[in-house]
Amino acid sequence: MNLKIRPALASDLDALTWIGLAAIPFEPQWPYRYPFAAEFPEDHNKFTRIRYSEWLEAASTPECIIMVAESPSLQDKNITKVVGLSIWRIPRRGSNGESNNKCLNPCPSHPILTSSQEQKNRRLRKSIGRAQEEYFDQVYGTNQLSLAQLATHPDYFGRGTATMLLEWGVALAKKERWPITVFAGPMAYNLYKRFGFKTLVRVTTQVLDEEEKIEFPGMAWEPIDSVAKNERRCVSSAHQLLVVYDSHRASLSG
Ligand SMILES: CC(C)(COP(=O)(O)OP(=O)(O)OC[C@H]1O[C@@H](n2cnc3c(N)ncnc32)[C@H](O)[C@@H]1OP(=O)(O)O)[C@@H](O)C(=O)NCCC(=O)NCCS
Repeated sequence: MNLKIRPALASDLDALTWIGLAAIPFEPQWPYRYPFAAEFPEDHNKFTRIRYSEWLEAASTPECIIMVAESPSLQDKNITKVVGLSIWRIPRRGSNGESNNKCLNPCPSHPILTSSQEQKNRRLRKSIGRAQEEYFDQVYGTNQLSLAQLATHPDYFGRGTATMLLEWGVALAKKERWPITVFAGPMAYNLYKRFGFKTLVRVTTQVLDEEEKIEFPGMAWEPIDSVAKNERRCVSSAHQLLVVYDSHRASLSG
């Protein structure tokens, strides 16, 4: 497979939207967050496009990089198309000490969500933020390369696209001696493990009295020489973080 990777350009917006719309619903978090997406495709497409245009805007700053993978089209091998994407938050150099992980998370309001669904989504984001702070920021501070999104268009699954995008990130992290952090979807879990990521925490978010819950592991990769071997922070058994929300307050156990 003749794959190439490069930084995304503003002109990749259509391709990013095409990939995101097709690939991201494979992550359980997305049907949970946008249950009416299939019913209102136009609105959801518009939302997704705005989301990627905001990411592209973020990628014009030194704090974010979007790398895309190009492949010959399956329909016509003379045409090259963008089939995979990875979104990376870069640690601030010479920063004021504040983490950029929370502020740099574009998420326009969704046109078709009810206010209770919006509230549910806010809570999910809050529990991710909480896990981010407790298990990533408190350990690695501002000095982490954070993988915000990794996706391949389903027509191109299993052809090494995500592996190549991840190799790029790991090479950068090795060079800069940064750890990489990610909240992993189930489809990518083994891929991260293959690269040596360890699971630091398993986060479960649930609304009180609802059966539906969402689970995702927080994983980290550390450059071997970034810390003395006996100080390596990745633990062999992961913590459990259970965040259960009732209508007004959050309770935490784990
Ligand atoms: C996870 C994902 C990015 C992998 O992309 P890809 O380009 O197909 O990946 P690769 O070809 O490099 O293969 C990497 C691994 O992905 C997994 N994978 C690939 N195709 C898969 C499929 N059809 N079903 C299940 N897992 C698959 C395998 O674990 C594979 O590792 P292996 O080759 O050792 O078995 C892609 O399946 C995807 O976009 N999924 C939906 C979005 C998502 O879950 N993103 C990750 C969020 S953290």
